[in-house]
Amino acid sequence: MSRKKTYSIMAAAGAVALTLSACGGGGSEAGGGAEGGSTMRLALNQTEQHPSYITLTDFSERLSEATNGWDIKVYPNETLGAQQEALQLVSDGSVEMAIVSGTQLENLNEDFKVFNLPGVFESIDHQMKALNDEEIVGELFTSLEDENITVLSGGFTQGARSVYNSKHPINTPEDMNGLKFRVQESDIAQEMIRRMGGSPAPMAYGEVYTALQSGVIDGAENNEISYLTQKHNEVAKYFSYTEHLVGIDYMIINTDVLESMSDKDRKAFQQEWERTVEDFTALWKKQTKEAHATLEEEGAQFNEVDKEAFEEALAPIVEENLDNKAQRELYEATKAAAE
Ligand code: GCU
Repeated sequence: MSRKKTYSIMAAAGAVALTLSACGGGGSEAGGGAEGGSTMRLALNQTEQHPSYITLTDFSERLSEATNGWDIKVYPNETLGAQQEALQLVSDGSVEMAIVSGTQLENLNEDFKVFNLPGVFESIDHQMKALNDEEIVGELFTSLEDENITVLSGGFTQGARSVYNSKHPINTPEDMNGLKFRVQESDIAQEMIRRMGGSPAPMAYGEVYTALQSGVIDGAENNEISYLTQKHNEVAKYFSYTEHLVGIDYMIINTDVLESMSDKDRKAFQQEWERTVEDFTALWKKQTKEAHATLEEEGAQFNEVDKEAFEEALAPIVEENLDNKAQRELYEATKAAAE
């Protein structure tokens, strides 16, 4: 059984509606029906250099060849709104697709938080194996269809997330005392930073650079690719490898739109999506290495941390957050997939 929280509609709905009407024009609207598809708009909060933008653009090209008229226009850099807004827009059908972080779905169905717990995934390969396994994720990923949102199997890994800040290297949880770290907008994300010794400040991804620059926050936590593509290294040069979480981004699509595809197109869509996930994972690993080298050249200071101290600090989160049988089963099945 999943417990759902009420999702509050963003205050900025009017502004986003304006943006959407401004980007209209050209191409037919999504939901073209069995006789032919259309261009689906996809909300993304990453830059054009991020592996998600690159692989989604290829996905669109293959889709238009493999289907009767379906393709995707990717809007990067939060042009259609930050992830919380994007979630709402997909739900009400104003936008057809979005990439959203796992933390966002935790706010719609708490069972998703199982995949946002520290240590649940041992590696990217383990994460991909579990999230591509229908037996594990099937029920969860269709659980938002009442809200008109379908989550596609797999997803885009966020790799291991670590902390970075503008003050000094972090070696132990004590080093985080007194520092404010931006976190994603979820309870687990906040609790995690508290347990690690810092103070959490939830905010949207696109606001982090300015908040770091102005000193509203001292640090944030993310992977090397986001650290580089968002240019956070310019304003927070100490990157400490806490690797507290292997995060996940989900592909969500408006359920009505998905169901309006002909059987043949839907099958092709699923096939091309699976290939996109594979392409993404390969590109992710390559770009992570490249990002590290570029960041070092640009002056970022990397350090290893006392991993045991952080693991110990975070250990209680798992037990305290598996609230019901469904969540415990999901957790156990996921852990078992590592073997
Ligand atoms: C990563 C992730 C995004 C997420 C971001 C964040 O970059 O891929 O989906 O929004 O972290 O910290 O908000």
